[in-house]
Amino acid sequence: MSDTRILVIGACGQVGTELVENLAYMYGKDAVIASDIKDDPSFDVEYIKLDVLDREKVRSTIVDNKITEVYHLAALLSATAEQHPEFGWKLNMEGLFNVLDLAKEGILKKIFWPSSIAVFGPTTPRQDTPQRTVIEPTTVYGISKFAGERWCEYYHNRWGVDVRSVRYPGLIGYKSLPGGGTTDYAVDIFHQALEKGSYECFLSAETALPMMYMSDAVKATIDIMQAPTEQIKNRSSYNISAMSFDPASIGKEIQKHIPDFTISYAPDFRQKIADNWPASIDDTDARTDWNWQHSYDLPDLVDDMLKNLRTQKGVSA
Ligand code: SER
Repeated sequence: MSDTRILVIGACGQVGTELVENLAYMYGKDAVIASDIKDDPSFDVEYIKLDVLDREKVRSTIVDNKITEVYHLAALLSATAEQHPEFGWKLNMEGLFNVLDLAKEGILKKIFWPSSIAVFGPTTPRQDTPQRTVIEPTTVYGISKFAGERWCEYYHNRWGVDVRSVRYPGLIGYKSLPGGGTTDYAVDIFHQALEKGSYECFLSAETALPMMYMSDAVKATIDIMQAPTEQIKNRSSYNISAMSFDPASIGKEIQKHIPDFTISYAPDFRQKIADNWPASIDDTDARTDWNWQHSYDLPDLVDDMLKNLRTQKGVSA
């Protein structure tokens, strides 16, 4: 029997919803607690209402429930943080410190904290962006994630904190909706395709970005947490990659299943954010160090999304 006791903070978000399900399956329902600021979400595991900025409640939740590992997912994403820069910085940084400090005290054994492709900026090479390169983020979200990466490494080097991190690309799944990201179009497009047969995209046709299917993202998250310590050679955050596409290409792939589907373009403020991010990512280090592998490419992703959303929405093929 494993003595692992897990708290997922920000469990109601796009990643949290699927991660909790998978962790409960792997470790048992009693070993996992979901938390978020929402009042009464439905989970198959115990739920605790928790604001990650409430330092004392974070501590008592972790101590009282004998938590050994935290997956700290609560954050404002790129588009929302641009609308609320001060709160974006506060939530993304203070939330991280509240968790890192408990590991520094020895109360927590291990932390997962996601970074993002948003750490990269206009001066970074856009194609096959390397693990180590110029990093000059221009969004509040990107700045907070980059600062967080440096702090994770610092806590590890100085106090031996076992914190592990990956830079998520845009994430696409059918079980939950994204909230406030620049890559959200790649989820919205499926819902609109099935409901209306058309989609107006807030990015231009040729804006290529790195993307990943949610089951691969969850796998990366659990894999890096379960990897033997000596395999984790990077304590800031690992590049991980699966596919790269632009709105026109995903539109075409959807048309293979829904021939009448149409896509139009009306770029908004999110275009500028996307223009400063990489188009594709080199994730050799993650593949070498802890055997990261993705399963889904664009055709499989589109096929699986449509199949599952059709069932969910009761739409026939
Ligand atoms: N999906 C995120 C965003 O668009 C990137 O990490 O903000």
